[in-house]
Amino acid sequence: KTRIIIDCDTGIDDALAILYALRTPDVVVEGITTVFGNIDVAQAADNTLRLLALANPGYEIPVALGASQALVRELGGFSTHVHGENGIGGVQLPPSSQLPVLETAAEFIVRLADENPGEIILVTLGRLTNLSLALDLDPALTGKLKKVVAMGGTVFKPGNVTAVAEANLWGDPEAADRVFTSGLPVLLVGLDVTLKTLITTEHLELLRQFGKEENKALIDFMDESLKYYFNFYREANYLIGGAPLHDPLALMAALQPDLLTCRQMKVRVETRGEHTAGMVVADLRAQPKAGEFIEVAVDVDAERAVGVFLSAFM
Ligand code: BDR
Ligand code: CA
Repeated sequence: KTRIIIDCDTGIDDALAILYALRTPDVVVEGITTVFGNIDVAQAADNTLRLLALANPGYEIPVALGASQALVRELGGFSTHVHGENGIGGVQLPPSSQLPVLETAAEFIVRLADENPGEIILVTLGRLTNLSLALDLDPALTGKLKKVVAMGGTVFKPGNVTAVAEANLWGDPEAADRVFTSGLPVLLVGLDVTLKTLITTEHLELLRQFGKEENKALIDFMDESLKYYFNFYREANYLIGGAPLHDPLALMAALQPDLLTCRQMKVRVETRGEHTAGMVVADLRAQPKAGEFIEVAVDVDAERAVGVFLSAFM
């Protein structure tokens, strides 16, 4: 069994990633920690608890609240224009009776990794603030997590918040730089690959036709929340004919790494630039000097990845 913690800012694609993990056999979600980002941290936790109640995974998954702001930066605003006021496209899911745990996200991550050294994969789908705080609490965490798969950044493609920065890195560049230079075994899954794995209305039609009866409520949720997401991508003139499975691809990368082609790169994150904060500075020279080596996804078998995502519900 693959044991994971998901750290996320539960917006629409985070929600799809969570549902995908819950419906993939041989995966145990040990906990979900939330962070500010698409929406505020409490809303992210509330969305998570409601999703868990809807999906009914058959075991209790603790939810811990994390950072409500970046390590040093002022809050740059939430992404409600992409994910809706409540983060999940305005869909009203029934409330959950489960409460968040009393530990913070960072404490939760540190404790679980400490109790299960080398066992847990942490998949981050938002700002890296919680993980950075966890490193403060326990610097030895670098040797205790099996892997960190982080959705964020872009090396060869433009950014999605600024010309060069992707949202998760832009929202807390200091945290991202800290994580990437910490020695943690990081796999970075950024826009270079996530913009290739698109979900379309045709895919939703397939899910409606062939989705398992027990997943009907989840498919209805996806259908409704994705309307908002599709609209954003259409109006923002992305012209990509669908909406990117950013966060689900990071989850898939954790469970099925062979979907991706990766390259070792020394990476820093720009923290000071007036026009470049949050940019991935990858040292692509033959003899790179800056930073630590991490793995960066540079290509993906997009058709197969989208197929893997859809089949989890069929
Ligand atoms: C990332 O930013 C968030 O809006 C999404 O949930 C995803 O994690 C894409 O840049
Ligand atoms: Ca996210």
